[in-house]
Amino acid sequence: MIPPLRWNDDARRVELLDQTRLPMDEVWVDIDTVEQMAEAIRSLRVRGAPAIGIAAGYGVVLSVRSEVENPQAVALAACDRLSATRPTAVNLFYALRRMRSVVDEHPEADREALFHLLLEEAQAIEREDRAAGKQLGEHGLTLLQDGMTVMTHCHAGGVATSGYGTALAPLVLGTERGLSLRAVVDETRPLMQGSRITAWELQRAGIPATLITDSMAGHVMQQGQVDAIIVGADRIAANGDVANKIGTYALAVLAGAHQIPFYVAAPLSTVDFETLRGEDIEIEERDAEEVRHGFGRQTAPDDVAIYNPAFDVTPARFITAIITERGIVKPPFGPALRTLADERTTSAPDAAL
Ligand code: MRU
Repeated sequence: MIPPLRWNDDARRVELLDQTRLPMDEVWVDIDTVEQMAEAIRSLRVRGAPAIGIAAGYGVVLSVRSEVENPQAVALAACDRLSATRPTAVNLFYALRRMRSVVDEHPEADREALFHLLLEEAQAIEREDRAAGKQLGEHGLTLLQDGMTVMTHCHAGGVATSGYGTALAPLVLGTERGLSLRAVVDETRPLMQGSRITAWELQRAGIPATLITDSMAGHVMQQGQVDAIIVGADRIAANGDVANKIGTYALAVLAGAHQIPFYVAAPLSTVDFETLRGEDIEIEERDAEEVRHGFGRQTAPDDVAIYNPAFDVTPARFITAIITERGIVKPPFGPALRTLADERTTSAPDAAL
């Protein structure tokens, strides 16, 4: 699987796969500054909840890559800048909280020492996410059987994470082990992460995929063409409500109406125990131009009102199970998620690759 970014140790910079150029061009851009990283996150050059957390971690490292007066203050300002890029995916705030702790724990470190400490932490966040993807893929695979067709929405594969994926991980692992699995991929309006990135990644992994427009999902389920749905998550509230790409909620309701299992695959770093219910999750609203004028062509009148929320919230009651790196949880999600998270903090970090 391709990772969303690479750390270049000689040049002390990040090389980032520009996801806005997929699937036609695989362009790697150099990121040298916090501002460039903030722009890359905001404009979705790097996207997907775990990937933006990892990118933000490296963004903080970049803030002290060369001489600065007060490295601690500069690194904390970088955390503030990066946390203002996108509001919904909690992995961004999870990673920045860890980066801030490194700064707070080393008030006397000189710039070079702080640079190395921050780099170690960013690399640990990336490593742990990769291990979590592999582990949750293994758990997710226990829900699949040979011959199944899995529907997915948006993109929750390699470049949305550290390279393993969440929702796509069970499909990739199952295919590697010889199962015959197929995917139905929603295009995912307005920014087409499904058609541009999921279809591209599944093709590369040799998994047969059929692309549909978002409005075809109900019809395809009604026709019995979907055995299970697996999506990723941007934030899971303490009660199991899930924020994910706009359109996820509609799929979950349709899945319920057709008795199709609806699974959410996410690492525990996506669970936000401080947010008690889905209604409390801030939903990012993006520029109207993404809807009016996407991909080089105007498709709506100049002055029509446009509403463009990037995510929606699926209430826990529509979710069959949540797949994490520590196991699969079934409703009621709240206590089960808490137990898994507590196990995670009291045992060794999930870093084996
Ligand atoms: O706006 P995006 O492209 O960052 O939205 C991404 C999603 O909604 C993904 O489904 C989610 O982050 C899970 S990624 C493993």
